[in-house]
Amino acid sequence: MRLKDCLREKLGEGEWPRSFSIVGDIAIISLKDEKLLDYGKEIAECIMSIQKRVRAVWAKVETQGEYRIAKLIHLGGEKRTETIYKEHGMRFKLDISKVYVNPSLAEEHATIAKRVRDGEIVLDAFSGLGFFSFHIAKNANVRSFAVDINPYAIKYMIENIELNKKLLKGEIIPIMGDFSKVSDSFKDKYFDVVIMNLPHKSLDYLPIARRLAKREIIIYVVIEDNRAEELSKRLGASEVKKVLDYAPRKGVWRLILKP
Ligand SMILES: C[S@@+](CC[C@H](N)C(=O)[O-])C[C@H]1O[C@@H](n2cnc3c(N)ncnc32)[C@H](O)[C@@H]1O
Repeated sequence: MRLKDCLREKLGEGEWPRSFSIVGDIAIISLKDEKLLDYGKEIAECIMSIQKRVRAVWAKVETQGEYRIAKLIHLGGEKRTETIYKEHGMRFKLDISKVYVNPSLAEEHATIAKRVRDGEIVLDAFSGLGFFSFHIAKNANVRSFAVDINPYAIKYMIENIELNKKLLKGEIIPIMGDFSKVSDSFKDKYFDVVIMNLPHKSLDYLPIARRLAKREIIIYVVIEDNRAEELSKRLGASEVKKVLDYAPRKGVWRLILKP
């Protein structure tokens, strides 16, 4: 049964939410209309009856702050935010209230990993708990430096390197810090590939990426859909692709550039 049909049965006709995402055994539903919180118990019951493996249901009311983490309100089930989330055979222990995670990026992580070759050195700036680095290190014998300012992202990255060590051909080097400062300690043109996934601000850091990258820069930006081509031309990108919807007529776009 679909979520909106379940809610219609329980509560009658209404503008009920249709979708939710699942991270491990936790469901997260984006509730932009806070009035829907009044029906939180019913929403949680419906989700747990549709998806039997879900043990906790949380509403995400916004993504906030420098760490880009979700502001969450408990709707039902266990009052727990830590879980084990699987992506392409790898297991990631994480806390959805402390680190950024978006299951809609799973294919993007895997797609980008295929661009990296054995022997290369990668910089995964704004790495979160390091999804790009894990996919890359699973595919190839590389060294990937993963930089994030959120100490919880680094704590879980270290645990997850241990958890997935049998699957990794390459090495992941976690670095906690502000990228604008950490980057000062890297030599020019040290990295074959630089990935920057901080869509609201990545463009501010492009000059640093150009200094550090030898072969390729992969950058994510939030932009109005009708401006993406123009930006791509201005930056001399060889590829441009929308990877996430963000708001009406606005998305997270990936651009691939030569340094
Ligand atoms: C969009 S999220 C990470 C996405 C991650 N690459 C993924 O694919 O799941 C952006 C990350 O940038 C980190 N961040 C924000 N400002 C930063 C800075 N100045 N230096 C380093 N990391 C930063 C946040 O803590 C957050 O984990």
